[in-house]
Amino acid sequence: MADKKTAPRATSNRSTVPLSTTFTDYISSNWAERVEEAPGPREQAAFAAARRARISAMHPGKRLIIPAGSAKVRSNDTDYAYRAHSAFSHLTGWGADAVAGSVLVLEPTTTGHEATLYFRKAAGRDSDEFYSNPEIGEFWTGPRPSLAQVAGDLGLETADLSDLDEVLERVGAGTVIVRDADRDLTDRVDGRRLLAADSGQLEAESRGTDADTTLARDLSELRLVKDAYEIDQMRRAIAATKRGFDDVIADLPAIVAHRRGERLVEGTFNRRARAEGYAVGYDTIAAAGRHACVLHWTRNDGPVLPGDLILMDAGVELDSLYTADITRTFPAGGVFSETQRLVYDAVREAADAAFAIVRPGIRFREIHAAAMEVIARRTAEWGLLPVSAEESIKPENQFHRRYMVHGTSHHLGLDVHDCAQARRELYLDGLLEPGMVFTIEPGLYFQPDDLTVPERLRGIGVRIEDNILVTESGAENLSIGIPRTADDVEAWLAGAAVSD
Ligand code: GLY
Ligand code: MN
Ligand code: MN
Repeated sequence: MADKKTAPRATSNRSTVPLSTTFTDYISSNWAERVEEAPGPREQAAFAAARRARISAMHPGKRLIIPAGSAKVRSNDTDYAYRAHSAFSHLTGWGADAVAGSVLVLEPTTTGHEATLYFRKAAGRDSDEFYSNPEIGEFWTGPRPSLAQVAGDLGLETADLSDLDEVLERVGAGTVIVRDADRDLTDRVDGRRLLAADSGQLEAESRGTDADTTLARDLSELRLVKDAYEIDQMRRAIAATKRGFDDVIADLPAIVAHRRGERLVEGTFNRRARAEGYAVGYDTIAAAGRHACVLHWTRNDGPVLPGDLILMDAGVELDSLYTADITRTFPAGGVFSETQRLVYDAVREAADAAFAIVRPGIRFREIHAAAMEVIARRTAEWGLLPVSAEESIKPENQFHRRYMVHGTSHHLGLDVHDCAQARRELYLDGLLEPGMVFTIEPGLYFQPDDLTVPERLRGIGVRIEDNILVTESGAENLSIGIPRTADDVEAWLAGAAVSD
């Protein structure tokens, strides 16, 4: 009766599940019949179908395998919260409720592809899985939907994961897979393709890995322009993120009083994400004082002192898996010092200069150039550069980049750094199109031990990050509702104090 393939890992030495047939017969009986709801397709189903049609047209005659991926081990027998691969979610519309280990297969037909979603369907009471398997058993991790439920919900043909074996039997050179989603499955596909290739033809092309790279690229590029559903999700994610920032501002007295105030910044934001019913799209960066000079400070274990700036970089990720990515930098004590304001205003000026040029037809990299023109000019004015701003901006110099080593913008969507496998000519050198969503996030970071800057600047880090939508006529700052000028930030902090 036990399904050994899905047996629990490393827990058999402490399992107390009774094995007698008296018990197994007893626990398997007297369960009410399941009433299966067959829902209509969810909102994103039609959008996902349109995306599948586009990728299908790019890969005629090829079998495309897009795995969701398995749960990832955090330590021993505990996993990280499950998160499906973004390409899988994009093509299925299955987000936070996706069943781990699922696989989308686009089977070539004479007219295109037929899509089938393979997943581990709900187990019956005739198996011992539901009570004895801590990894996937219903009593341990919750029920799974039936094939009919998911078919109705996502508007897709569904099949049990066990039927995937039969597909894999047929795998040969004409099969392409998203490689980084599910290592075991990728190994199996590679093995099948090797068997199918002539022994003398073991180059990447015949193994199919070149085609895999092309598929990953195409799936990334498919996401460069967001559809109406995605833009709506981004707006919702950003609205929830704004509420998280508001919560942190309201909690500042407790944050400053705590010996590890950064932990409270993170906790308060993440609590809002959970209270909204969602999650965070990446580890919240809660960096006070000199920690703000560490671009991805996620240890968040320091205090927040009254004179500190707090750099908070956070985003709520919805059930659809779309995430915001927003940074605000604010004074813990409510008011910027003169020096903090000087730096803040320069960063804001850079952000505004970048935003001002955004419209369809410009190149993505021009946004960065516009921001860097301000950063070079201001840091030169302050006497920080060994040359003039004009000299510094030349590609062979770039002295000002000592204070901002990261880029100004990245695409945003299902992944915080979305479309990462898109070609450079469509990404950095690409032309903006309506529907693109990306960040504008200049910063200035004066490391505490940087001898090129006066002491008063050392240990100050400022980033302002907004989420931008390219429209037909220009651009919309989707996160404009979160205060961003120094005056508005101070008023925001003052308002929170009044309402406490
Ligand atoms: N939160 C990471 C980034 O802004 O790119
Ligand atoms: Mn970002
Ligand atoms: Mn960010």
